[in-house]
Amino acid sequence: MSQEPDLSVKIANLILKSPVMNASGTFDLIYEPSYSANGLGAFIPKSVALHEHHGEQAASIFEAEGSLFNAATFLSDGIDFFEKQVMPDYTIDELPLIINISGETADEFASVVERLEKHDTIKALELNLSCPNLDDNGEMFGLLSETTYSLVSKVRSVTDKPLIAKLSPNVTRIQEITLAAEQGGANAFTMANAFQAMSIDIETRKPKLGKVAGSLSGGAIRPLIVYLIFQVNQVSHLPIIGSGGVLSGHDAIEMILAGASAVQVGTANVLNPAAMIKITNEIRDYLIAHKIPSISDLIGQVDLS
Ligand SMILES: Cc1cc2nc3c(=O)[nH]c(=O)nc-3n(C[C@H](O)[C@H](O)[C@H](O)COP(=O)(O)O)c2cc1C
Repeated sequence: MSQEPDLSVKIANLILKSPVMNASGTFDLIYEPSYSANGLGAFIPKSVALHEHHGEQAASIFEAEGSLFNAATFLSDGIDFFEKQVMPDYTIDELPLIINISGETADEFASVVERLEKHDTIKALELNLSCPNLDDNGEMFGLLSETTYSLVSKVRSVTDKPLIAKLSPNVTRIQEITLAAEQGGANAFTMANAFQAMSIDIETRKPKLGKVAGSLSGGAIRPLIVYLIFQVNQVSHLPIIGSGGVLSGHDAIEMILAGASAVQVGTANVLNPAAMIKITNEIRDYLIAHKIPSISDLIGQVDLS
């Protein structure tokens, strides 16, 4: 095949030039000028919440084999700061801007979305369902179908922008939760956020992170995420963005075969800020080597025969 393969994919009403984008909180375009606008499918800044959150600053710990333990996922400078200081820097022609939103009540999410509605440069909203729901018992919104539905439908009622539900992997009934998000008005899914996990220092006998559990991301979670993507794809026709342990182009292809239309790269960026360029090149090389004209030809094409 002499022609360049077609890397474009469709997520809701967006045509992305590449299936590779960063995962929220792991990469900042401002500090990585080597990325041209065309090198990525989309850019997603760190979660923005209504108010400032500077609470949990416990140390991040690198684990073996491209995995990362961290306790710093729910931090934000708040929507005021974000709109005035951050948004202008992120408005880049040709690169779709997707804003990831955090909150501790459904009303907080809706308030942030209402504030962002006027910005035409924002092409889609990603809801971080791994946030604690303080209207309930403080458990993550994404653990139950009911809280997933009520959050997504609340946000749906205040915006026409495409909504991407970033699901939690810490669940047993992912298909029910997927359908609840779809019924609430989601247009796509990100599968998934990091896993809750624990690590203990056997000398001090204390948890290695400041609190009991932390977030585990990177290579260690990839097979778990691949199976979750597969299960989501079984029950919904909405596009899925795979997130969890994509360290190479082959990892991305694996997720796409399981049913993802695109992938997010998180931990790999923390380990190597040029990771997304390498991953994109490896996807292209795979398509050329296998004479596949378009990445879309591979979505959900795992062979179960
Ligand atoms: C340091 C760090 C910060 C993160 N911050 C956020 C965040 O602000 N919002 C969010 O939805 N996910 C956040 N995540 C989760 C990632 O976006 C991603 O979904 C997860 O790490 C799984 O992908 P990975 O294995 O490629 O890292 C963060 C992850 C890490 C490692």
